[in-house]
Amino acid sequence: MQRPRLLITRRLPDEVHARLRDNYDVTEHIDDAPLTRETLAQALHEFDAMVPTITDRLDADLLKSAEPFRTRVIANFGAGVEHIDLEAARRANIVVTNTPGALTEATAEVAVLLMLMAARRAGEGERLLRAGRWSGWAPTQLLGQDLRGKTLGLVGFGRIARETARRARALLDVRVAYHSRSRASALDEETLGATYHDSLESLLGASDIVSLHCPGGAATRHLLNRQALGRMKASAILINTARGSVVDERALVDALKDGVIAAAGLDVYEGEPVVHPALLGLENVVLLPHLGSATLQTRTAMGMRAADNLDAFFSGNPPPNRVA
Ligand code: 8YV
Repeated sequence: MQRPRLLITRRLPDEVHARLRDNYDVTEHIDDAPLTRETLAQALHEFDAMVPTITDRLDADLLKSAEPFRTRVIANFGAGVEHIDLEAARRANIVVTNTPGALTEATAEVAVLLMLMAARRAGEGERLLRAGRWSGWAPTQLLGQDLRGKTLGLVGFGRIARETARRARALLDVRVAYHSRSRASALDEETLGATYHDSLESLLGASDIVSLHCPGGAATRHLLNRQALGRMKASAILINTARGSVVDERALVDALKDGVIAAAGLDVYEGEPVVHPALLGLENVVLLPHLGSATLQTRTAMGMRAADNLDAFFSGNPPPNRVA
């Protein structure tokens, strides 16, 4: 039997390529540059399956064609799928899967890392030292803020939010509050000591650290806009490991400059890889290059999860992580 033709759009950990080569006729992009729109469009007619990443925009226009596509399954490497138009994929008869669960801990760790870096001014300190401007220890130099006893407000209460809560409670001794579309069970709230807020506004006003854990996409675009940022405490820290689109970057720049909020820690941006130039000049923001899931173990687990989904699909079973 002929093996399905599979396109892997970016370079994944070696173990993942090795596993996929065993079962599929694989085309790999070893140079690791994001594919052009034209190449992606063509690929839908040439490959039975695709493993794309966040850098591959599979929008409604691209997923529309006069002739049927050859591609029958898109196994996204990643949990977030807002770069794929799921409705258009359904119309084109393409199954879409993702990799939830595989990156929960790694992403939660980066959220906690950003909290600490922002609260303890770690980026600022390192920049000072590397620039040769450190004149030596001083009692009031680079004073940050303690987080213990403070309230961590989670926007969204899915896997990553809960893991962030668990880790932040253990490491930072914070209190947990959250807002999400649906309230968690009393048991889940009790396990994490989490207080529910029935509105985002209420959560923002009550939190010392606001950490975003909602999906990207139209429904959450600019959820943290000028007005929402204005509801946060002047001493508060905003953390974003979710999607850049959730925050109005222009409004955030102003909020950080004008003291509307104290600091921010960002791992994701509105127009990746472009970062709002004004953010680059601000000392009170920590900027990481989308490192949420960036460990070898986690990226390997994500690839294996994508492979599990493909294997299920091609053996006629329901893929475990089908999203469309
Ligand atoms: C991934 C992520 O690295 O899985 C996600 O949703 O944000 C990242 O951790 C990236 O999306 C891979 O496509």
